[in-house]
Order: sequence, then structure tokens, then C-alpha cells
Amino acid sequence: MTTFQVNGRTVAVDVAPDTPLLWVLRDEIGLKGTKFGCGIGMCGACTVHVEGRAIRSCITPLDAVAGATVTTIEGLDPDGQHPLQKAWIKTQAPQCGYCQSGQIMQAASMLKDFPDPTDRDIDAVMGGSLCRCMAYIRIRKAIKIAAAEMRGDASNG
Ligand code: FES
Ligand code: FES
Repeated sequence: MTTFQVNGRTVAVDVAPDTPLLWVLRDEIGLKGTKFGCGIGMCGACTVHVEGRAIRSCITPLDAVAGATVTTIEGLDPDGQHPLQKAWIKTQAPQCGYCQSGQIMQAASMLKDFPDPTDRDIDAVMGGSLCRCMAYIRIRKAIKIAAAEMRGDASNG
């Protein structure tokens, strides 16, 4: 049995300790917002936070998060009103949407390091989060809008 926190609640799962966190979240806990893309840490679709930092859940074994705090897209904001989520809607960033929970989780982690990110910052940090619909321009815009809100800069974005 492995116990950890996910989105503010304690969960205990009885699966092999090397099971990828992605499948534990989706199949054992029922949190389907986190997506499978490549399974080898190369696309970002499966991104969640562990202790507030972005990780690829497809290559993170369950035992690596024992006792840790995990946040998925469902727990980023209790009301789905995180500035990034609002900006994503405002800019209509998604196309098919498949990559977008991973994009938002990666962006949320990035904004802790880059509260006022430049295009270069965004491209550098978000470069590993692939979007086959090529929504990159809208994603970049949404990140800047959210960053401005989080800084309390209503004039920007
Ligand atoms: S599914 Fe995890 S990085 Fe692609
Ligand atoms: S919106 Fe379709 S993969 Fe990104």
C-alpha cells in the first residue's frame, strides 16, 4: 500500500510500486484530466505537480511519491478559476484540448520561477510540452495574461 496526498486528500493505493503515477491517477483514483501522450517523458501531456513542481507522471513510479503531495489539473484551483485556467478560456487556447492540462500544469510551475516571463522564458520552459494542434501562440499569450493577473498588473494582458 502506498499513501500520498492528491489534490488535498490522502489516498492509499495497492498497486505495484513501480506503476507509473499517471496510471495510478487515472485508473486507481479516477482523475482523468492527466493525459497519456508518449509514455517516455517527451511530450508533457502527463504533467502534474509533486510538491508544487512539474513532473512527468508517465515516468514517475508510484513509490517516488510515497508521502508526497501531488496536484493534478483537477486540483490546481478548487473552482477551476486559476488565472491560467481563466486565461486559457479567454484566449481560447485549446484546439483539440488533449495536451492542455499538461500545458497548464507546466505553466503553473513555470510562473513560480518566472512571474513576468518573456517569450524566450516561455519557449525555454514550455518547449517540452508538445501540442500537435500548434496552439503555441495562444498558449504563450494565455501565460502572459495569467502572469499579469498573478502579479496584480491589470493593465497587462
Ligand atoms: S505521456 Fe508523459 S511525457 Fe508524454
Ligand atoms: S490542443 Fe490539440 S494537442 Fe494541443
